[in-house]
Amino acid sequence: MKSLRSIGGQLLLSAALLVAAIQGAQADIVSAYGKYVDDKGNIALPENFLLEWVHMGSWAVLEGEKASGLHNVYAPRDVVEYYQKNHEFPDGAMMIKEVRGARGSTHTTGEAFWAQDVAVWFIMVKDTQNRFPDNALWGEGWGWAMYEGKDRTKQVASDYKSDCLGCHVPVQDADWTYVYGYPVLGDEVSKFAPKAEVTPAKAEEKAMADSGIDEAVLKQGEKVFRRCKACHSLEAGKHRTGPSLAGLFGRKAGGAEGYKYSQAMLDSDVVWNAETLDAHLLDVPNFIPGNKMGKVFPAGVKKAEDRKAVIEFLKTQ
Ligand code: HEC
Ligand code: HEC
Repeated sequence: MKSLRSIGGQLLLSAALLVAAIQGAQADIVSAYGKYVDDKGNIALPENFLLEWVHMGSWAVLEGEKASGLHNVYAPRDVVEYYQKNHEFPDGAMMIKEVRGARGSTHTTGEAFWAQDVAVWFIMVKDTQNRFPDNALWGEGWGWAMYEGKDRTKQVASDYKSDCLGCHVPVQDADWTYVYGYPVLGDEVSKFAPKAEVTPAKAEEKAMADSGIDEAVLKQGEKVFRRCKACHSLEAGKHRTGPSLAGLFGRKAGGAEGYKYSQAMLDSDVVWNAETLDAHLLDVPNFIPGNKMGKVFPAGVKKAEDRKAVIEFLKTQ
């Protein structure tokens, strides 16, 4: 008969074995050590990661309006799954950023860019144990390496502090990684994203700046529009003495639904754009002879710059 003590001992032993097995399994699954990292801390470039790993995401780098580079980032599937569960990278996790040139042309989707040859591979390997304190390519919890497209066998970075770290400072809080670019890692990563510089509002501003329309002109236009407000709303379908001016540009004169136009306006073949609107406001009674606005607002807008301003303003509505 076994003593209680030895049963207890066996239980402890099997519990210890179990923990070791789990740890071992986890280490095996995700670790780059022994496989891609040798005992001196040299990091090799894996041969088949394009086929075997998960493509976590891509960055398009623009030069002017064109993409000059496409950066594709890969990690082993287990690393991705571990991050999804634990919101951090496990020891031994490896990531590769493949930097390719880009070429573009007009496609059925628009201006589309596709990848060219590899320029550089950047590699990071997670190290929670400070394994290589004397190796200049290890620090801040990571091993850092770089290969150039022309030679898959020659690691070319010499010191992570000068070669890598400076550019990764903005994501220090995300364990030095640009994880918000990889939605496959889970919703959590978006909390690290910078405040987008191109918010919809800003994009509109930018579009205006690009088309040469400035804020001041629009402000002026809004002011001029006060003269129109008594008779025109900017809400679709809401008519006053005059029809709603929502969606005016590109519309045929007399085209707003639910408004009772004069026959003169219905019969005209004017389409509203900057030119026709300018002519209408300059000479309301005669541009479309017999229209109702010519009777109630014959003065129109006399100053050319006021007309331009109100036209620009209406374009944005
Ligand atoms: C010029 C700035 C710059 C330098 C230098 C730089 N990186 Fe990065 N790195 C980035 C940026 C920005 C990203 C993500 C966006 C992108 O690729 O445009 C990134 C992404 C990465 C990624 C993909 C994982 C992640 O963090 O999102 C790896 C791996 C990487 N860098 C490794 C390195 C290594 C290793 C070095 C040094 C040998 C290095 N980088 C040097 C700016 C830099
Ligand atoms: C006192 C009332 C009144 C004022 C003020 C007025 N309008 Fe009008 N407007 C009308 C009426 C009425 C019509 C309909 C004309 C018709 O059916 O013949 C009209 C029609 C129009 C149309 C044609 C719309 C369409 O659907 O085809 C435009 C464009 C227009 N107005 C612009 C303006 C602008 C811009 C201003 C201010 C600078 C302005 N109006 C001020 C009464 C007014």
